[in-house]
Amino acid sequence: MKTRDRLRIAMQKSGRLTEPALDVLKRCGLTFRQSRDKLFCFGEGEPVDLLLVRDDDIPGLIEQGVCDLGIVGRNVLDEFSLTTGVDGAPLKEWRPLGFGRCRLSVAVPQEMAYENATSLAGQRIATSYPGLLGKWLRDAGVDAQVVTLAGSVEIAPKLGTADAICDLVQSGGTLVANQLREVDVLLESEAVLAGPATLPTDERGDMLELLFKRLDGVIQVSESRLLLLQTSRGNLEAVTRLLPGGPQPTLLPVAGQPDQLMLQALCAGEVSWRQLEEIKKAGAREMFVLPVEKMLA
Ligand code: PRP
Ligand code: ZN
Repeated sequence: MKTRDRLRIAMQKSGRLTEPALDVLKRCGLTFRQSRDKLFCFGEGEPVDLLLVRDDDIPGLIEQGVCDLGIVGRNVLDEFSLTTGVDGAPLKEWRPLGFGRCRLSVAVPQEMAYENATSLAGQRIATSYPGLLGKWLRDAGVDAQVVTLAGSVEIAPKLGTADAICDLVQSGGTLVANQLREVDVLLESEAVLAGPATLPTDERGDMLELLFKRLDGVIQVSESRLLLLQTSRGNLEAVTRLLPGGPQPTLLPVAGQPDQLMLQALCAGEVSWRQLEEIKKAGAREMFVLPVEKMLA
């Protein structure tokens, strides 16, 4: 394969992952000039380009080396590994991205009895995920018929082409609209950054390393809050004990008030009103919770 000196990332052209994926890349400092056909986007600042494709095509593009990385649902990646992806090297989930959360579940008509996987013995199950469903059934030792459909899986029971379905569930709205109930979860999914198990070590390697570092910062800060407060030295221990997670707080003197300290703490995750009220009771005042925009350790 001819080497490229620019990184190429594949992502969904239009769908639930498109906007949040572009947002993550933007927060990593990557912006793109969209081309006329909107399939290939040239990276402006950094040598990183985008290929906008159907999500199901992403694992194959990585395996063939057409793209170095892809932003894709874990469901698509795992299905590929179980079915199509047999000739090339296995793909790796390099980072979970925390958006596009959904689950791959088995759902049955409201009136159908269901206890566990064995309730599906001898039934026909419609799905677009024959690999994942087949493996789940095999692991459970259940003999059922997998009916592979490209789409509109949820109407199969009503059409009489299947007895149950195995499909993605996000809000659950599609199931309710089709009088189906979710009975078992096969896979918890979210968008992930996928790539080959061995990443290139040529010129692209440096950019990859930089991208991973920025991405780790972006993932970390999207969950981080900076907590600022004032406390007296006497209450410091009580206040510090209540601080939610994260590294040691930084203490700063307050000019003209030798007994007072300004405390600054990075918190991993949300800080709730209840937590703030407790910390205040322990003697803190002038409290602020700020979102963190960038972080470089
Ligand atoms: C998925 C899935 C369901 C729906 C579930 O389809 O196939 O139809 O989402 O979401 P809900 O629980 O919020 O109703 P999607 O819209 O992603 O389209 P696709 O499967 O055809 O790509
Ligand atoms: Zn899809």
